[in-house]
Amino acid sequence: MSNWEELRKECMQCKKCALWETRTNVVFGVGRQDAEVLFIGEGPGENEDLQGEPFVGRGGKLLDDMLRIIGLDRKENIYIANIVKCRPPQNRDPLNTEQEACMDWLRAQYRLIRPKVVVCLGRIAAKALIKDDFKITQEHGRWFDKDGVKFTAIYHPAALLRDPGKRPETFVDLKEIKKMIEETCKRTYTEGE
Ligand code: URA
Ligand code: SF4
Repeated sequence: MSNWEELRKECMQCKKCALWETRTNVVFGVGRQDAEVLFIGEGPGENEDLQGEPFVGRGGKLLDDMLRIIGLDRKENIYIANIVKCRPPQNRDPLNTEQEACMDWLRAQYRLIRPKVVVCLGRIAAKALIKDDFKITQEHGRWFDKDGVKFTAIYHPAALLRDPGKRPETFVDLKEIKKMIEETCKRTYTEGE
């Protein structure tokens, strides 16, 4: 069995934080395990919990549209995961303790995927993966280099649904992400299956 399948199987049984008690499904992630581009959200909502896949509600449809604008597809050329893999009750923010407990799974996924570009979706992922004092309103679209891997953050799709006024800025960020992927990644736009 591949490391990836083993990891997935282990993760599916995880009880490392209390979120396991109220989940329906562990939402491990979706996409290519050799993706050059990794998108990271916050945690599953109700639909994701029921279906076991990240970003499948209204926000998910918007995310798919955003990806399509820059030639990406969740199944073909990227990977999408979350900071926490089980749904926080009432969609509250995941607690720091829950994020820390779950981070080992994401670290393991990151080591196996070895992405070149990482896009954080929203404040929670940006704080966890870029820096603790990340300010999404001021710092979305900015690039951070971590051991040669390019990290950025854009507004969370749910924030764009709540406040469509944020969409033009996000469109600019998406174009910059496309440019960065073209400069940094060999496969993403040439080998989609
Ligand atoms: N919001 C997230 O951050 N992740 C999901 O998977 C769904 C909604
Ligand atoms: Fe395990 Fe993460 Fe689920 Fe907590 S949220 S039970 S750490 S998979």
